[in-house]
Amino acid sequence: MSANQSTAAAPIDTPEGFAILAEGLGKVYGQGASRVEALKGIDLTVRPGDFLIIMGPSGSGKTTLLTLLGLVNEPTTGRLVLGGREIYGGVPPDLARMRREEMGFIFQAPNLIPFLTARENVLLPLSLAGVRGEEAQNRVSQLLEYFEIAERAAQYPNQLSGGEQQRVAIARALANNPRIILADEPTASLDTDRALAVVRLLRRISRENAAAVLLVTHDHRLLTEVDEVIEMEDGRIASRKKVDPEA
Ligand SMILES: Nc1ncnc2c1ncn2[C@@H]1O[C@H](COP(=O)(O)OP(=O)(O)O)[C@@H](O)[C@H]1O
Ligand SMILES: [Mg+2]
Repeated sequence: MSANQSTAAAPIDTPEGFAILAEGLGKVYGQGASRVEALKGIDLTVRPGDFLIIMGPSGSGKTTLLTLLGLVNEPTTGRLVLGGREIYGGVPPDLARMRREEMGFIFQAPNLIPFLTARENVLLPLSLAGVRGEEAQNRVSQLLEYFEIAERAAQYPNQLSGGEQQRVAIARALANNPRIILADEPTASLDTDRALAVVRLLRRISRENAAAVLLVTHDHRLLTEVDEVIEMEDGRIASRKKVDPEA
């Protein structure tokens, strides 16, 4: 695909129109004998509201890709534009602020803060973003209800079941209405019904908020819920396909 000056480009095809635009994104860990080329030139565009599943064998670079897109890790090579902002190579945007206010991360392990209650865990990203008082409390209550954990709000993580902890973690990830949601095997510890419920919820949120969702999973049952699937292989995107709803 080449940008052509004579073509009247729809706004959506400019970098500004994409939630994520990556070009030749590469990542090398270590050096010498321990050098690993984890990503070998990733080209990827994701639009607001897109819901993509990323699959691929262990070690193919799925987590590394999410950490680069989530500004947790710096690429060794390539270009990254998020929400129209050039991340590297221009005037650097405030990456910490972007991570805090525009990204939602969901991991396989819930990673809740053990000395905060469920409610306080969900409140934390709002506090960090400067949302306080009634507005913040209302938003947290809404999320806790939405995820059916309102009754458990005063409990600490070690008093919650695995599924409850994961729902708190997802509520926390969504607290700031992120533009980009990055989920790394978030349903691995959930049974099929709960896993499907989580994915349907993310689907709905992505539609309602025009958030881009990238979900890493090995679970083929979740494919029926999404538009597209990316297959990674040895640090590359081997394919990107529309999901056939009939299949
Ligand atoms: N922090 C790290 N330091 C060194 N090598 C790493 C690091 N993280 C990942 N790797 C290596 O990069 C490759 C891709 O890993 P990863 O992105 O975790 O793949 P996946 O999530 O698909 O299993 C693997 O060879 C892995 O061992
Ligand atoms: Mg991984």
